[in-house]
Amino acid sequence: MLLEVKDLRVAFNTASGTVNALNGVSLDIMKNESVGIVGESGCGKSVTARAIMRILEKNSVMTGSVKLYSDNGMTEISALPTESEEMRKVRGGKIAMIFQEPMSSLCPVYTVGNQLNEAIRLHRDVDKTQSSEIAIDYLRRVGISRPEKLMNDYPYQLSGGMRQRVVIAMAVSCNPSLLIADEPTTALDVTVSAQILALLHDLQQSQDMAVMMINHSLGIVAQSCTRVMVMYLGMIIETASVDELFSHPKHPYTVDLLNSIPKLNLNKGSRLAHIKGHVPDPFNIPKGCTYHTRCRFSKKGICDEQIPAVNQVNDGHFVQCYKYSEHAKLWE
Ligand SMILES: Nc1ncnc2c1ncn2[C@@H]1O[C@H](COP(=O)(O)OP(=O)(O)O)[C@@H](O)[C@H]1O
Ligand SMILES: [Mg+2]
Repeated sequence: MLLEVKDLRVAFNTASGTVNALNGVSLDIMKNESVGIVGESGCGKSVTARAIMRILEKNSVMTGSVKLYSDNGMTEISALPTESEEMRKVRGGKIAMIFQEPMSSLCPVYTVGNQLNEAIRLHRDVDKTQSSEIAIDYLRRVGISRPEKLMNDYPYQLSGGMRQRVVIAMAVSCNPSLLIADEPTTALDVTVSAQILALLHDLQQSQDMAVMMINHSLGIVAQSCTRVMVMYLGMIIETASVDELFSHPKHPYTVDLLNSIPKLNLNKGSRLAHIKGHVPDPFNIPKGCTYHTRCRFSKKGICDEQIPAVNQVNDGHFVQCYKYSEHAKLWE
């Protein structure tokens, strides 16, 4: 076990009321594992990542537990003060995070070399020369062909894909045991996006590192992860291996998400299936199963009454739905 999250709840106090962003998220990540978190925009994927990193905004209230395991024991991240020395060591050292927009992690007025050196020296006891050697080595590992030259470049001189490579080099240069990638390719075009996903996959394999890949698209997650967690309104409603989820999905929401993946052989004129309706307002989470307002199989008096329990379908496959065994027959 590497990361263990139990009953994580996050609410934001805003001028217009309380936003219940996470409503009891429990998940495990194993050492060296690549796990995906998918769900439509607003489902709480980024809040989950920010809660694990303890970088939530001041208007938030967080409960539940987040534990990080290593060979030296366990760190209860959720119990650490956000600005404590120990939490700083976790952040960037044991858990690193990359975001959709690489410029949010880069400073425009410093060279790539300056920023990489600073990141490395914050977490490793090395001098300037050693740090530059490490930086150049990592730039090479992320596929940059002339790393010595790039060290002197400023972020604005680089393309989006190159910037994201630099950010990834910064993130992995501290040897994190977990890399959280929050929609890391959404701002990039398709070809560059595929290259970055392949790079993250290679690094996960070669660096002794787990990757938590956050994406709104099941298609993207399927390419780079072995296990998927499907999120809806601040809850994980289904978890399974990628193969199992694609061949035997159980939650109607997962099936709806699968149907909305673009297919290459889509006939001209045919349309992508969109999930009907919208994600409900998080100020006003529906009673019962939160998906019942959009679910084709929702039963009055059952699905709209109480939150369903988490059912184990088989080893590693979990689903939070009352009627999954009945309606799954319809598509299997
Ligand atoms: N700082 C904040 N203040 C108020 N609401 C927030 C804040 N951050 C996120 N939220 C709300 O929490 C919910 C989950 O957001 P998020 O995790 O960003 O979704 P996504 O799955 O798209 O990453 C959304 O309804 C969002 O508006
Ligand atoms: Mg997000």
